[in-house]
Amino acid sequence: MKRTHFLLFFTGFVIFFSACKHESTVPLANLAADSTRYKGLACSTDSAYFYNDVGPLIISSCAMSGCHDGNSEPDALTTYSNIKKIVTPGNPTGSKLIRVTSGSGRSMPPGSRAPLTTAQLTLVSKWIQQGAKNNGCIDKACDTTTVTYSTTVIPILQSNCTGCHSGNNPSGGIKLDNYTDVKTMATNKKLVGTIMHSAGYKAMPPNGKLTDCNIGKIKAWVYRGALNN
Ligand code: HEC
Repeated sequence: MKRTHFLLFFTGFVIFFSACKHESTVPLANLAADSTRYKGLACSTDSAYFYNDVGPLIISSCAMSGCHDGNSEPDALTTYSNIKKIVTPGNPTGSKLIRVTSGSGRSMPPGSRAPLTTAQLTLVSKWIQQGAKNNGCIDKACDTTTVTYSTTVIPILQSNCTGCHSGNNPSGGIKLDNYTDVKTMATNKKLVGTIMHSAGYKAMPPNGKLTDCNIGKIKAWVYRGALNN
């Protein structure tokens, strides 16, 4: 083999393996703890992100205990590599993830669990359309000054928590789909304690951590009186 050919081959080999390492084996929990991973990558409103949006949403909606948490169903939906197995990058409607969660043939989430909202389906479809990458960003323009229960807190809880914490059999017996119950968890400090993974509290969500921006927004809302605004 000529020297240049060998170099090309070797470079390709290194790129291939380092890509695999990043793309498929990092569990979401580790990924989320490592927020420096996306340092310098500012969020763009044109993009959908796995780390910021899609991963937490799928875990909250599908990976509750008894479902796709890896202990009961064979196909755990707790890591990027496993979630990627049910999508066809660039083809949302051809992806199993979208087929089972939308349209007339919808079968997931089953039973009394709320279906994904149109906004959530649009977000996941956009992420698939854009290549279903293991991507993430840091929200530099995180605005914690204008937070309200209806416009800020509800969407964060819907994307990260209510998949488990709603319905007839909510995880831990705790519902987070109505103001009264959320306010109780704000007042007894469990809401902030759990999302900050503080000592003495259960770490929530169980498979990862909210982005710093979303934690900051919820804290700002709680510290200003957890109003029903
Ligand atoms: C995948 C399912 C799942 C998701 C998603 C989830 N939780 Fe939980 N949560 C649980 C389970 C299970 C328990 C009960 C844990 C236990 O008692 O060991 C629990 C317990 C709690 C508790 C009570 C903790 C205590 O010390 O009593 C709070 C508060 C809570 N969750 C908040 C949240 C918030 C806020 C989110 C979203 C940011 C969230 N959870 C997302 C499954 C989930």
